[in-house]
Amino acid sequence: MAENSQLVKIEDVSMEYGEGSQRTVALDKINLTVNKGEFICVLGPSGCGKSTLLEIIAGYQFPTKGKAFFQGKPIKGPDWHKGVVFQSPTLYPWLSVEENVAFGPKMRGLDSKEIKEKTENFLRQIDLSSEGDKNVFDLSGGMKQRVALARVLANEPEMVLMDEPLGALDALTRLNMQGLIRTLWKENKNTVLMITHDVDEALALGTKVVVMSKQPGTILKEINVDYTYTAFQSDTHRIEMDEKYLKTKEEILGLITYN
Ligand SMILES: Nc1ncnc2c1ncn2[C@@H]1O[C@H](COP(=O)(O)OP(=O)(O)OP(=O)(O)O)[C@@H](O)[C@H]1O
Ligand SMILES: [Mg+2]
Repeated sequence: MAENSQLVKIEDVSMEYGEGSQRTVALDKINLTVNKGEFICVLGPSGCGKSTLLEIIAGYQFPTKGKAFFQGKPIKGPDWHKGVVFQSPTLYPWLSVEENVAFGPKMRGLDSKEIKEKTENFLRQIDLSSEGDKNVFDLSGGMKQRVALARVLANEPEMVLMDEPLGALDALTRLNMQGLIRTLWKENKNTVLMITHDVDEALALGTKVVVMSKQPGTILKEINVDYTYTAFQSDTHRIEMDEKYLKTKEEILGLITYN
């Protein structure tokens, strides 16, 4: 890969919280490169430092050792080039669906025509064009998460960081949302790093699966996969679980369980 295709570079990053008996080593000498256009899925046992890693890339936390770069520059804090989606949708409850999506572009000082165009485009992408006037508290959990996605995408971030975005949804909504996330990634051509607990979800969406060890979190393995591309070729967006798929899944489960 050419040097300029690198979007994120994590170099020997360690992260410790607290001191003395309270000391926790959340991450231990992590190295990770994220190239433009990749869809990285991070898997690992609970407490292994997945959210910490995402927060370092987002600029919410700073590593105690090592360096983190975004577009070649040290990460100094959050900004709209890195959009973050959490497990529970972060929306402004006093604003309508449309106003929530329009919020970022407004803050960025775009003119009203551009704001309208972007808002309409992203409401269409999440299939909520006719719900723009609704209050967000009147929406279902899945709809709220779609608005949260559109709100982040309306800023046209280089990178979308998602921390178990589908964790709170029922199985069927979750499957539908996986298809939506895949389509949004393709349409908007951004780079995604998504944390999930679900190996099938990681294999269904990722171009690369990053497997972490239990605490203190290290990277055990990076596995390139292509099921997300093949899903585009089927009308239903369902993925073919061939023999290789099952072997990869077994390998990942083994890594998570025994390391
Ligand atoms: N702000 C904080 N202050 C102190 N300790 C923290 C803080 N954030 C995380 N930790 C600790 O760091 C470790 C890693 O936490 P983190 O939330 O990154 O894990 P995770 O892999 O996202 O877990 P989960 O899968 O349960 O969400 C845990 O032991 C956690 O208690
Ligand atoms: Mg977490």
